[in-house]
Amino acid sequence: MGEKIAGLDVLGPEYFTDPHAYHTRMRAQAAATEVVLPGGTKAWLVTRYEDARQALADQRFSKDYRAFPGIMQRNQVDGEEAGEFDSSLMQHMLNMDPPDHTRLRKLVTKAFTARRIEQLRSRVQEITDGLLDEMAAKAATTDSATINSGMDLVDALSFPLPITVICEMLDVPLDARDEFRVWSNTLVLGGPDAEAVQAAAGRMADYLTRLVDHKRANPGDDFFSELVHAEEGGERLDQLELISMAFLLLVAGHETTVNLITNGVHLLLRHPDQADRLRADRSLLPGAVEEFLRYESPVNHATIRVTVEDVEVGDVVIPKNSVVVVSLNGANRDGDRFPDADRFDITRPAGGHLAFGHGVHYCLGAPLARMEGEIAIGSLLDRFDFALAADPESLRWRQGTLMRGLESLPVSLTPRGPR
Ligand code: HEM
Repeated sequence: MGEKIAGLDVLGPEYFTDPHAYHTRMRAQAAATEVVLPGGTKAWLVTRYEDARQALADQRFSKDYRAFPGIMQRNQVDGEEAGEFDSSLMQHMLNMDPPDHTRLRKLVTKAFTARRIEQLRSRVQEITDGLLDEMAAKAATTDSATINSGMDLVDALSFPLPITVICEMLDVPLDARDEFRVWSNTLVLGGPDAEAVQAAAGRMADYLTRLVDHKRANPGDDFFSELVHAEEGGERLDQLELISMAFLLLVAGHETTVNLITNGVHLLLRHPDQADRLRADRSLLPGAVEEFLRYESPVNHATIRVTVEDVEVGDVVIPKNSVVVVSLNGANRDGDRFPDADRFDITRPAGGHLAFGHGVHYCLGAPLARMEGEIAIGSLLDRFDFALAADPESLRWRQGTLMRGLESLPVSLTPRGPR
């Protein structure tokens, strides 16, 4: 690992390119290792499957955002300033412990049950088909030299599909989505430019405030209007909780699934034998999606937690008031849980992976993400033969520790004839 500060590894560009190699070393070394995150915060990294699973369900690793600024500041290296985050976006369930977490989550669970999500299937298929039609039209009108230079799968499919679905669920106008993507990327990647993060948070908060105000004045029969008027146990969601909820759903709803689709297609391109098996037997698709999630988990690390007391992880004691990062990719490549874990195999039983987290914060959108992943990749396989249209070494991974996904994936497409 490249840079070190105070004897600790700094998770930087080398790590973003290949976090797996680093996790393998850390799993062998200790149950938890202190590292420095890109913003200059010291954090304990947990990379073994059993420890990760336990930590995610252990309330002594708190998610209460109110404690975060102080603890982040005291864990900064070399007296650097910890970046601040607009607190109007922070008051959502992923930043709270029970009972606040329970209250907020209860308000939205009914919109995300497997049954409710199943009702969206035909619409998700329709949106996907529309995007694939556009890709086919582009492939047909461009001369072969241009097609071979590639179409970016992220721009053409992986990004627009989930953002369109979540915007429709919340009845959010799609016109702001490009701006939204820039703010959201800046916030999710975080990193050393605290001013840029702060500015993006401010713009996002303004935008969502206007949206909530609009919904309050013009309620529709959509799920977001329902939330604006929801009462739970006699309590209304206050303005900041509403803005934060919209923020969480919009960001979680697309920053993650984009990586599932892109990483899944990338894995099939790198493993043509597995792609052939999948084309030959489409009943393998749900299992293949689980293996994409396990092998290249779209969320690299769970979001940060802080210790409310000294906590033992394996033979390491993580002191009170520490920042803790549970590595989902580390856990999902642990050979003690998944035999031959570094081998990509769409037929392995990949169930039990931690790509959607574990415990009370287990991903609310998991049924939606799985459905979007299956429809996007299944339909792409139906419609096109595809090949990587770039030197594999030139592909760039998103720069940051939270997400694991390619920035772009150039593919050349050949429409498949009717079978
Ligand atoms: C492949 C796609 C996705 C992956 C890999 C993923 C992963 C995760 C993970 C790991 C967590 C837990 C984080 C932690 O404990 O620190 C989480 C929580 C969450 N996810 Fe997802 N997610 C995905 C898609 C979605 C979608 C489509 C939505 C829906 C809008 C969504 C909404 C949420 C919400 C609301 C939470 C917080 C739940 C809570 O705090 O109780 N996610 N997700």
